[in-house]
Amino acid sequence: MSNCEYKPGLEGIPATQSSISYVDGQQGILEYRGIRIEDLAEHSNFLETSYLLIWGELPSATELEAFEHEIRYHRRVKYRIRDMMKCFPESGHPMDALQASAAALGLFYSRRALDDPTYIRAAVVRLLAKIPTMVAAFQNIRKGNDPVRPWDDLNYAANFLYMLNEREPDQLAAHVFDVCLTLHAEHTINASTFSAMVTASTLTDPYAVVASAVGTLAGPLHGGANEEVIQTLEEIGSVENVDAYLENCLQRKSKIMGFGHRVYKVKDPRATILQKLAEQLFEKFGRDEYYDIAVALEKAVTEKLGNRGIYANVDFYSGLVYRKLGIPTDLFTPVFAIARVAGWLAHWKEQVEENRIFRPTQIYTGPHDFQYIPIDQRRDF
Ligand code: ACO
Repeated sequence: MSNCEYKPGLEGIPATQSSISYVDGQQGILEYRGIRIEDLAEHSNFLETSYLLIWGELPSATELEAFEHEIRYHRRVKYRIRDMMKCFPESGHPMDALQASAAALGLFYSRRALDDPTYIRAAVVRLLAKIPTMVAAFQNIRKGNDPVRPWDDLNYAANFLYMLNEREPDQLAAHVFDVCLTLHAEHTINASTFSAMVTASTLTDPYAVVASAVGTLAGPLHGGANEEVIQTLEEIGSVENVDAYLENCLQRKSKIMGFGHRVYKVKDPRATILQKLAEQLFEKFGRDEYYDIAVALEKAVTEKLGNRGIYANVDFYSGLVYRKLGIPTDLFTPVFAIARVAGWLAHWKEQVEENRIFRPTQIYTGPHDFQYIPIDQRRDF
């Protein structure tokens, strides 16, 4: 019998020691390797940030150039994986397609040489390079088209938008998308990262690590919330309906998607940045019909639930940004995964460097010494 206090959802229980990122949920501070998210959003880009997260320091200009070059070189995905994706049902969720495709990479590249820095680097490069290609490929395949080949002249973010829409993206759109990736790259020990770490702790290959994390990110209480925010705004329909909608949710005790966080008890700093990015896009490409509803809903939720520490989280404004970038709603979570691969890989590397397999305990609540009853003597209930 354990003498530790049981905390559902492991709330407040440290599961590891980590130097990758830091959240102060009372003050709304997020840092990657000690650097504030606001600074990275303004001055860095997604690949530089990924390097920082995974290797622990900002790269020199030469190191960054070499890293970007390797990623460009590895963007293409084997035709056998593309053919496999063509067999997926078009009606399937793109997160399921991504989980299966990420796991399939392990069929081609797994060696489990986890003490070999060259293998680690190759796995990092392959996963960062190929995950966006696979997300875009499934989108094209399910529309009945062939996957679009990556365009080597475009940077990471611009190339993804290009593969998705088959046209070179506007510069502001590509920049905003890159900032979104940076904002979603890492966030301490959330559910999908914990999942990645548990899988990593068995010393399996990094493709299995990422595949398990993708499966965890897919749920509506985690990455899947960004899709549900758009459904909420659609359901509300107009600013006039906001108060009634909220009242109804509160009466039914149902959650309002895009609000609340285990750690943040103030507005998520990423939501503040994403709201500004949304406004930049609206200024150039026109306002989203749901934006006013979103602002009114945030105001109403803050008034009613702010005293309980429930504020907008990262998922609340990200969907509005993605819609303006022409990303379909059910790709919002795969796009989140593209970014979070960086954080998962940073935790994978940190885990295997000082590994001990995760094997928590439990508090058993069932019976003991029950008698086995043969099937012909059991009663129907
Ligand atoms: N709307 C209404 N009430 C809420 C919300 C919400 N969005 N979030 C929390 N609460 C309430 C709960 O009903 C609960 O009330 P109670 O104490 O009276 O029962 C209390 O606040 C605590 O909520 P929990 O669900 O226990 O908090 P927990 O830390 O376990 O969950 C979570 C955090 C899952 C994010 C939760 O706030 C939620 O479900 N939010 C909506 C889904 C969402 O937006 N998820 C994305 C999170 S960000 C991310 O994963 C990338």
